[in-house]
Amino acid sequence: MLGIKVEKKQTQKAIGELKELGLLSGEAKVEKSGKYTLIPLKNKSSKVIKKLGKKYEVIEHSFQRKKQEKSFSELAKDIVPEELHPKLKTAFDIVGDIGILEIDKELREYEKELGKALLKSQNNLKTAVRKEGSHKTEFRIQKHKFLAGERKTTTLHKENNAVIELDINNMYFSPRLSTERKRISLLVKKGEDVLVMFSGAAPYVCIIGKNSQAKSITGIELNPKAHEYAEKNIKRNKIKNARLIKGDVRKAVDKIKKRFDRIIMPLPKGAEKFLPSALKVAKSNAAIHLYQFASLKEINALKKDIKHRIEKQGWKTLKISRIICGQQAPEVYRMCFDIEVAKKAKN
Ligand SMILES: C[S@@+](CC[C@H](N)C(=O)[O-])C[C@H]1O[C@@H](n2cnc3c(N)ncnc32)[C@H](O)[C@@H]1O
Repeated sequence: MLGIKVEKKQTQKAIGELKELGLLSGEAKVEKSGKYTLIPLKNKSSKVIKKLGKKYEVIEHSFQRKKQEKSFSELAKDIVPEELHPKLKTAFDIVGDIGILEIDKELREYEKELGKALLKSQNNLKTAVRKEGSHKTEFRIQKHKFLAGERKTTTLHKENNAVIELDINNMYFSPRLSTERKRISLLVKKGEDVLVMFSGAAPYVCIIGKNSQAKSITGIELNPKAHEYAEKNIKRNKIKNARLIKGDVRKAVDKIKKRFDRIIMPLPKGAEKFLPSALKVAKSNAAIHLYQFASLKEINALKKDIKHRIEKQGWKTLKISRIICGQQAPEVYRMCFDIEVAKKAKN
């Protein structure tokens, strides 16, 4: 295999240069040889090597191969018997340093081994758990069963320039919504007053706080534990223009004097029922982002229903569009309806 030979003190500089040129081999190890370092090269055309030879001493050497780590999918397939492979889900979620698996009932006898395999394949993880049951109660909490590593349910999750502290067994959080949270934060214009209903541990509040020039961000959350973490998170991220309210959205809006330019409603099961509460605190021209789980066939009926609910409160829908921001089940998507509303003039 071809490589270059450099004096030890030149090692980092040479590696940096080779990386930049796309010439550093990822399959073989860098080796020491007396006062020199031998750096392996990718298989490239003789023209490229000749050019490199003008700057470095090119050598032929049998470099040691790097041990190829197996992926979780490969390790899992070694653990679970082949006839059960169709039941094996090899995709997983990462929340901070916790890896979250979904394991079919028929594979539960292998779950501890699968947890260990996940930790082996992902150096950045400390804990492996599996999802237990579905999102329960109005707090939308999902429980998790410990499988391997450090026994804990709290972690720090980095996302879109913010760090969110979470307890995965006591509050809702989905790392899969990171792109959607970023999309919303980029829509927020300078000087806007933003309301995040159903704010949980405050991921939307923090990400909008970190990535926009909103004038103010208000969050409302019913789950006291999520609210407690949300308070910690706005402090941790130094979001000075945020205010968090613990309680039911319906009651909380009656006490809020402020009116909002943008209202985010991330409660995909039933957010539409809270539209009257949102409109109570909306400025006369406002944007609403309302999340729902739905199939593609249902979109037009849902748009009609949303418009009808808005009309009933004495408002007009100026614009309504939707984007798909996730999948909940086969053919059921998480959608965000981006709505522009205006208050109807009184006759
Ligand atoms: C799907 S979670 C979204 C949490 C958070 N926005 C996020 O993206 O991680 C919905 C949240 O709404 C809260 N919730 C449900 N009903 C509520 C209500 N009536 N008033 C305030 N919060 C509510 C739940 O406790 C839960 O934390």
